[in-house]
Amino acid sequence: MYESYWGVSEKPFENTSDPRFLFNSQKHEEGLSRLLYVVSESKGAGLLTGIFGCGKTLLGRTLFKELDHDLYRTAYIDNPYLSYTELLMHIAHFLGARDLPQKKQDVLVNVVLERLREVLENNMRDGKKTVVVVDEAHVITDRQVWEELRLLLNFQMENKFLLTLLILGQPELKEILDSNKQFSQRIAVKFHLTPLSKDETESYILHRLEVAGRQEPVFSPKSFDLIYRKSGGIPRRINHICDLAMFAAFGSNLSIINENVINEVSSDVED
Ligand SMILES: Nc1ncnc2c1ncn2[C@@H]1O[C@H](COP(=O)(O)OP(=O)(O)OP(=O)(O)O)[C@@H](O)[C@H]1O
Ligand SMILES: [Mg+2]
Repeated sequence: MYESYWGVSEKPFENTSDPRFLFNSQKHEEGLSRLLYVVSESKGAGLLTGIFGCGKTLLGRTLFKELDHDLYRTAYIDNPYLSYTELLMHIAHFLGARDLPQKKQDVLVNVVLERLREVLENNMRDGKKTVVVVDEAHVITDRQVWEELRLLLNFQMENKFLLTLLILGQPELKEILDSNKQFSQRIAVKFHLTPLSKDETESYILHRLEVAGRQEPVFSPKSFDLIYRKSGGIPRRINHICDLAMFAAFGSNLSIINENVINEVSSDVED
């Protein structure tokens, strides 16, 4: 809509988890390298927490993109609002398990676990590593579901984990896991992602504009500070503000986005 006005090939601030737009802030870089470490060293389980919109899903997606798919078998569960055994069934399905029970009432946890074990052992024999990401894991409050996930970590061969489990979710996940000590003790690496700093917010905006094809200034120097204050450095909010601002300034035929525009559009951005 405003792309040609601003000379960009696509919208720079779309709220999608597109790895092409990844801005390597110090925290994002560290978070990604920790996740990669858990995976490459077959460490069992890793945990990534952070408040809403700070980039957890983007890091999970980026990691998946970076994995060599000849070497890794993967499953990405992004809606774990599932009951006892359903989550396991989903994981088994994504990993290509065969002969899974068809009817919900026929699903027995031991049968699903057995099918999963077969898949994992086959992967290991074929020289493949298996990685399962469970995103939005803070919605899992049923202890039995955590127990099932823990059982997955019991699958080992020659002292090696047969799969790597990466758990992503909002900060309340920490409390949930604290009350599930048996699971929590198996997490080899824990990392908490924080919002961007003021300087990073500016670099983040410039980076996304550049990926979309824009090198020349779009925002006035002072507007960066205001975007930081209005967004708290949370990338999803920054995107929202910048997208609305680019649209509003296009409507008013402005050549540069100033603080007035940011003030005007920020009231439409949710807290
Ligand atoms: N480091 C980054 N570089 C580029 N874009 C980012 C970065 N971090 C976050 N974003 C963007 O911010 C938006 C929100 O990120 P994401 O969906 O990954 O957050 P989240 O932590 O998973 O949020 P939620 O807790 O709501 O699931 C996405 O559009 C994403 O592309
Ligand atoms: Mg997410």
